[in-house]
Amino acid sequence: MKTSTPASLLAAITMAPRDPILGITEAYNRSTHPAKINLGVGVYYDDQGKVPLLQCVRQAEADLLQHPKPHTYLPIEGLAAYNNAVRRQLFDGTRAFDEQRVITLQTAGGTGALKVGADFLQRFFPDAQVWISDPSWENHAALFEAAGFTVNAYPYYDAARNDLNFPAMLATLEQIPAGDIVLLHACCHNPTGLDLDDSQWQQVLEIITRRRLIPFLDMAYQGFGGSLAEDGKVVQRFADSGLTVFVSSTFSKSFSLYSERIGALSVVSASPDEAARLLSQLKRTIRTNYSSPPGHGAAIVAAVLGSDQLRALWEQELAQMRERITGMRQQLRARLQQHLPARDFSFLTRQAGLFSYTGLQPEQVTRLREEFEIHTLGTGRICVAAVNSGNLDTIATALARVM
Ligand SMILES: Cc1ncc(COP(=O)(O)O)c(C=O)c1O
Repeated sequence: MKTSTPASLLAAITMAPRDPILGITEAYNRSTHPAKINLGVGVYYDDQGKVPLLQCVRQAEADLLQHPKPHTYLPIEGLAAYNNAVRRQLFDGTRAFDEQRVITLQTAGGTGALKVGADFLQRFFPDAQVWISDPSWENHAALFEAAGFTVNAYPYYDAARNDLNFPAMLATLEQIPAGDIVLLHACCHNPTGLDLDDSQWQQVLEIITRRRLIPFLDMAYQGFGGSLAEDGKVVQRFADSGLTVFVSSTFSKSFSLYSERIGALSVVSASPDEAARLLSQLKRTIRTNYSSPPGHGAAIVAAVLGSDQLRALWEQELAQMRERITGMRQQLRARLQQHLPARDFSFLTRQAGLFSYTGLQPEQVTRLREEFEIHTLGTGRICVAAVNSGNLDTIATALARVM
């Protein structure tokens, strides 16, 4: 007797859309061209085109190996020494810090911080909606939607001028209903590289306060735009505004610890008592997601931030990464200016952090890939940290040709 295989219960499931950024890397990996270049990444590369292993990390790891410890569970909120070091790093000097109103929990990278924050907010503010910049890091909308929120965009970028559209941003913020959540990039905006200046931040803070919105600051690139203190100013300003503030932060980039998934969620609250209640609820969110975080990345960062010598070394290495990017911005601008003297490339040095929005159109991005083996995002975002002294001329010539 013929038996037929029963139809799979999962037969109706279709393929998920490809991640746009990882898709670029896949296409790049498939290419066999010896001179291929990937500008689509979100990672810092050194001048040899390698992801660095920082000396401070190497030293901290050597020390950890010399003093091995059992791999028992960390507390739900993570390693205390790590959380204290991150809290100090972000909030030292604020009233909120002195008054012990800030809680910090270790998370699986910045993504984990956003997800824990989003799940927590959805539990207590299910009717709130979320507002992110247009454009923003691709995962922002997906993460908050996955947590159950409706996600809207506020204007941020003016493509015609390759600059901020601040008046439109303010006009939209003025319309957002009280209690909604506004996601802001604390520095080095991804993908545009364009940040607000001091007075613009002041205006945004004033509207958020007046309209009783919930700010969620995402800081994935502290130290890549300016010094740690300069890039950290926005978080400090919001912390001392009297508002409840959510902050996601990560050491993926600044410690070059991508695979260790080491980030943090901090919340500035109204009182130590409120902070304790928030902490207990956030721990429940973590417990039902992944129970407790992994240990190695936290041990490294805690060791570096807890040692005067290693911390100084880290700051020095971070400054070298920042200065290399700034140098590449200047040189790319100068090269492009030589190729196309009538065009304005000042945006390259006005923008900060790993990324530049170049204004390239999708068909120009396709030409870059097909004619020059230079892979980047269809939006025209390039990772300036993937430019180095070996590929600078090739990239400048190709960009000028397609422009
Ligand atoms: C703006 C922004 N937020 C958060 C993240 C997530 O960082 P992590 O890799 O630590 O999860 C990134 C990573 O690219 C980012 O660009």
